[in-house]
Amino acid sequence: MTAITLDYDHIQPFLPQKEILALQPEIDTLHAALENGTGAGADYLGWLHLPSQITKEQLSDIEQTAKHIRAHCDVFVSIGIGGSYLGARAATSFLGSTFENQLTKDQRGGPEIHFAGQNLSSDYHADLFDVIGDRDVCLNVISKSGTTTEPAVAFRLLKEMLEKRYGKPGAKKRIVVTTDQAKGALKTLADEEGYKTFVIPDDVGGRYSVLTPVGLLPIAVAGIDIRELVEGAKTAESVASAGAAMEKNLAYLYAGIRHLLYQKGKTLEVLASFHPSMAYVMEWWKQLAGESEGKEQKGIFPASVLYTADLHSMGQWVQEGNRILFETFLNVKTSNRQLKVPAFENDDDGLNYLAGKTLDFVNDKAYQGTAMAHREGDVPNMTLTLKDRTPDSLGQLFYFFERAIAMTGYLMQVNPFDQPGVEFYKKNMFTLLNKPGYGKG
Ligand code: PA5
Repeated sequence: MTAITLDYDHIQPFLPQKEILALQPEIDTLHAALENGTGAGADYLGWLHLPSQITKEQLSDIEQTAKHIRAHCDVFVSIGIGGSYLGARAATSFLGSTFENQLTKDQRGGPEIHFAGQNLSSDYHADLFDVIGDRDVCLNVISKSGTTTEPAVAFRLLKEMLEKRYGKPGAKKRIVVTTDQAKGALKTLADEEGYKTFVIPDDVGGRYSVLTPVGLLPIAVAGIDIRELVEGAKTAESVASAGAAMEKNLAYLYAGIRHLLYQKGKTLEVLASFHPSMAYVMEWWKQLAGESEGKEQKGIFPASVLYTADLHSMGQWVQEGNRILFETFLNVKTSNRQLKVPAFENDDDGLNYLAGKTLDFVNDKAYQGTAMAHREGDVPNMTLTLKDRTPDSLGQLFYFFERAIAMTGYLMQVNPFDQPGVEFYKKNMFTLLNKPGYGKG
């Protein structure tokens, strides 16, 4: 069952329905290019039918490894950056407790989960060592290229710690590598050391890799049902592959609206959620959209806000600042647990008008009021609503966004599957660091 709906009533004053419908022939052509592998970046379309092609054996292998880690480790560190980091972080924070690492191991049923290698901060990694302390630790180092500096540095630090603590053979049992099947320094190291290794398919780029072992292993270590996640993605895959008609294919409707607003000068999209559990889903989306579309001097700048907190900071800008933006609300229809505002006998704080109402009810009114205010403030806005906080719904959302962003990239006539711009800072950094082959800084 489809878990996602798209409401675009607050778009209509800015973008008449007939303009949206007029885009259908172009979307039909680009859908065929995606499905037939005839568009830009066709070598990286492995994600397109990944959910329906993952085998039971592949899932079992990931689940077995995760089970071992859950049983033997107090702390699990997932090391990676960009697409080798954000999918797992999005899923574990969306589906887990807001305070997961503060729960006891018994409450969690598995290790504390931390992330490393997504920055080069000395304090971040030193603080991580403090948190690990003398507890049993396992690592999953994830890098498709196997040469990315940030995770390589973090892995070196943590590998040294493990080898001092457990000796080389003991450390080996606690390290899992996720990388290319043949290339890269990490692959060479994994072969030399004999680490358990998972392969990232050649035809799946980093930001489209959450449903490969890149995302699935850390997600399974968090105790999340990865079969349900993949099933959800499979549902979204079958909806998106069934046809390009925007009335049914909501990923393309969302893509079409984004593209048309962009053409009208709305060059910034704010993804806004009233649910803190969505924070890292929005970070994942920002990478997916930003790296896929931002090239050749084109692209919608993807930003995110967490309401209602940000209504008291960025809300002013959204309401009355430069009118270059449109907004997409990312809602969840029902929370997993319901709290009600209590009634107080003497209504000192004046809140008895809310007594007996659920926080979901109040939060929803805050959303509705915001959407209306922003429409009045000339911010076109639409709402994606996810049925619930389950692996199935999240799997659908991951796939939905992948399809939508690929389609928007094609509509903008860019290759959504490369990221040539990322190399520029690396070249300068390597030169400044005197990396062999890069000359003197
Ligand atoms: O989407 C991408 O391809 C990038 O964001 C990569 O995921 C990121 O640069 C990390 O690369 P790697 O997995 O090779 O270390």
